Amino acid sequence: MRNKLVQKLVEHQGTFISGESLSQSLGVSRTAVWKQMDALKKSGYQIDSVPKKGYQLIARPNGIQEHDIHLYVQTKRLGHTVTYYDSVPTTQTLAHEWAEGGAKEGHLIVADEQTGGRGRLGRNWHSTFGTSISMSLILRPKLSPQQTPQLTLVAAVAVTRAIEKVTQLKADIKWPNDILIKGKKLVGILTEMQSEPGLAKVVILGIGINANQSEDELSHDERNQATSLKVESGLETNRAQLIATVLEEFEWLYDTYLEKGFSEIKLLWEARSISIGKKLKAQTINGTVTGMSTGITAEGALLLEDDEGIVHTIYSADIDQ
Ligand code: BTN
Repeated sequence: MRNKLVQKLVEHQGTFISGESLSQSLGVSRTAVWKQMDALKKSGYQIDSVPKKGYQLIARPNGIQEHDIHLYVQTKRLGHTVTYYDSVPTTQTLAHEWAEGGAKEGHLIVADEQTGGRGRLGRNWHSTFGTSISMSLILRPKLSPQQTPQLTLVAAVAVTRAIEKVTQLKADIKWPNDILIKGKKLVGILTEMQSEPGLAKVVILGIGINANQSEDELSHDERNQATSLKVESGLETNRAQLIATVLEEFEWLYDTYLEKGFSEIKLLWEARSISIGKKLKAQTINGTVTGMSTGITAEGALLLEDDEGIVHTIYSADIDQ
């Protein structure tokens, strides 16, 4: 009920909502509403309660609205405009729409909850209200469509660096761009593109971070063993600060990549990757390849050497490791 109540308050931010209408829409008594409001105030929510008018949300702890993120943003251009939604099916589709409407490179779409989050290889991505980070960044790089997968590796380096800066937790990268702690998934990255022949017109870089979810909130995830920053550190992460730090880290790595190519990023990626020098099983659309991973190519594809010494170049796959 707490989540739904917060959601209602967020939806009505800037206006009052009566105790009566809250109790009706949530199907609980007015006393229950009052008790929850009291609990929220004790946990740092600023809520105005005025007799006959009801309740108004003034400020939320750990918010990720534009003004929260802008407290921390120190980038040259990324994240200077932010569009926040409390609950959306997926920030990816919205970012595509904003890009089609002419949004500039660096425009960021964030949401407190996704109800139909998209993952790689057609999977779902689950984001819980108020505790996760779901963000999609609009990029307009001058790259060929074949080069854009490298951006997911740039992003993986940026996110692991940002996590380490903000939480001191050390995370590993699993090829191409899963971020794990002790083998459990913490971050997912999804790059989507709108292209013209020979040119990636728009790239939408989607990043989902399990930030403050409790173990219970993560247990839905059957396929991937998931974890969160809170589960790993026992501490609440300031989501706005982490988003701003991801933007900051991504900006300089992205600029380095655009200016100098992939070679410097490759070294940084390899230093944080757990996918090198191991026997891996790659499930590709053309079948399964098992072999020793000897590194990544200059394009970011994974090299797997099988038992016969044949080296396979893997561009897209699900990796078991
Ligand atoms: C994966 O590991 O499969 C990728 C997950 C990507 C999730 C992010 S959350 C923000 C953006 N919106 C989505 O629907 N997906 C990406």
